[in-house]
Parts: sequence; C-alpha cells; structure tokens
Amino acid sequence: MARWFVGRAAMNEAIDIDLIDLAEANLPATLKDVPPPEVEATNSRLADADAFVMITPEYNHGYPASLKLALDSARDEWMAKPVSFVSYGGMAGGLRSVEQLRQVCAELHMVSIRDCVSLHNCHGLFDEAGLLKEPSAPDAAVRTMLDRLLWWAVALRDARAERPYGA
Ligand SMILES: Cc1cc2nc3c(=O)[nH]c(=O)nc-3n(C[C@H](O)[C@H](O)[C@H](O)COP(=O)(O)O)c2cc1C
Repeated sequence: MARWFVGRAAMNEAIDIDLIDLAEANLPATLKDVPPPEVEATNSRLADADAFVMITPEYNHGYPASLKLALDSARDEWMAKPVSFVSYGGMAGGLRSVEQLRQVCAELHMVSIRDCVSLHNCHGLFDEAGLLKEPSAPDAAVRTMLDRLLWWAVALRDARAERPYGA
C-alpha cells in the first residue's frame, strides 16, 4: 500500500517524500523520559516535514498501536502542520481508523484535512506486480488529497516562518 501511494505521490514534482516505515523504526514500546536514539532519529525526520500522510490499516475498528506510539513519541515535530491519511481494510476501508486519528492529531495541534484516500477490501485490489487493478478512482483521490495537503503545507510553513507557533 505504501509503495503504491509513494509511487503516485512521487509524480507530483512539488513533493519530496520521506517514507517512515514504523515496522523498521524500532520505537520502544514504552515512552522514556530521555528519548532513545531510535526516537530521536524518527523525530528528526518528522521535524523536517512540512506535511504528513499517515498510511493506516484498520484492526478491530482502530489504528495500529505502532502508529499511536509514533504519535505519542513526538510533540513539537507534529505541531501546526497538515496531515492526511491513506487508509485500508475490509468493508469500511479503514475509515474508522482515520476518524480516530483525527481526534488524536487535533490534540497534537495538527490540521487534519478533509480529503483522504480510502481503499476497501484491500486484499483483492492489487495484481501480482503490486499495481492496482482498477486505479482510476484511487488515483483521482490521491491527486485531490495531495492538492489540498500541499495548499495547507505551504500556508502553514509560511505561517510558522512568519510567527512561531506557540503551544
Ligand atoms: C485481527 C484483525 C482485525 C481486523 N479488523 C478489521 C476491522 O475492524 N476493519 C477492517 O476494515 N478490516 C479489519 N481487518 C482487516 C485488515 O485491515 C487487513 O487485513 C489489512 O490488510 C491489515 O493491514 P496490514 O496487512 O498492513 O497489517 C482486520 C484484520 C485482522 C487480522
């Protein structure tokens, strides 16, 4: 799913992508007073970003613990930046995960944008080459989401540069 999304997003020349795979980030399962190097390394990549796209499945109507841990392990790195979502799962396409994430992202002072990408019944969507069998609707959703995300990324980057976000 991430490979597909990054492939589509990379077509937009205005975007530089840094893909953080939480399965490889090795964040410790509990929060520490002094962040270990793995947390520092991930957070420094988050700090460099002007916008976020969270790619999330849905497990038992929720998003994975690895994503919550990443959210809780940073603070200022998220603030005053826009976020959108690519979600996938069974019938609901991961949308319950997205609605839960919007609540958490608001607490972290992120701006969650309206448009996201949702793929339902995800196991049958890709062919053996990893390409979507029916790409037109998802591709259009990615374009719309990225257009809106970019608008907010530029607006909030300029605003942060003009006046530091105090929280
Ligand atoms: C334990 C478990 C619970 C799941 N619960 C949901 C669910 O509540 N809603 C949904 O849409 N899909 C659900 N699924 C389907 C997963 O979202 C789907 O298998 C997805 O591919 C998992 O993402 P991953 O392969 O990246 O881990 C569940 C799958 C498992 C194994």
